[in-house]
Formats: sequence, C-alpha cells, structure tokens
Amino acid sequence: MAKIVVMPHAEYCPEGTTIDAEAGISICDALLSNGIEIEHACEKACACTTCHVVVRKGFDSLNEAEEKEEDLLDKAWGLEPNSRLSCQAIVADEDLTIQIPKYTINHAKEGH
Ligand code: FES
Repeated sequence: MAKIVVMPHAEYCPEGTTIDAEAGISICDALLSNGIEIEHACEKACACTTCHVVVRKGFDSLNEAEEKEEDLLDKAWGLEPNSRLSCQAIVADEDLTIQIPKYTINHAKEGH
C-alpha cells in the first residue's frame, strides 16, 4: 500500500489530497476510485494523453514507460521529465506525489 499525495488542481481537487493506493494498480485507477475524476478519454488504453500526470516524488518506483507511452507523452500539454500517462503508471509500495497538469489537449472536453 502506498500513499499518493495529489497536489491541488483547480478542477479535480482544489485543496489537494492524499489517497491510498494498492500496489499494482495504475495511478489513474487510484485517482478515479478516490473520486478524483481525471480525464481518461481512451479508457486507459494508452491511446490519448488526457490522463497525463507529473510525478513529483517517487517517480523511480514506477514501472518503466513503454515506447508507445513515451511517444504519446511527447504530445501532452505541459510535458516534464517526470511526466507519465497515469493509466500506464503502476503504483509500487513507495509513496508518490503527483501533480495533474492544468490542461490536457482535450481540455475542451468534447463529448464529456
Ligand atoms: S487514458 Fe488515454 S492514455 Fe491514459
């Protein structure tokens, strides 16, 4: 079990929060199951970038990104060296601090 500190995001968690996440689930699922409705336009199939998060702490404890994820991340808004697609980033036992970027390329939220 790891803790994920979610830094404040105006829309998803204005005050910031800390959630528990079981090892082996994705950051995206951990957020969603704790009521933080991060976008996941491709339904976690590693085919969009809307679930992008920046991992401020614990980045090295995550599984390594595959090439497809890296390629997609190149198109993400606000890319940083510690960016991940949260649906592809699997939590281990180490605590994490993540930041949800202010925008996604989908921020108009068509169809949502
Ligand atoms: S939800 Fe589309 S890549 Fe994660």
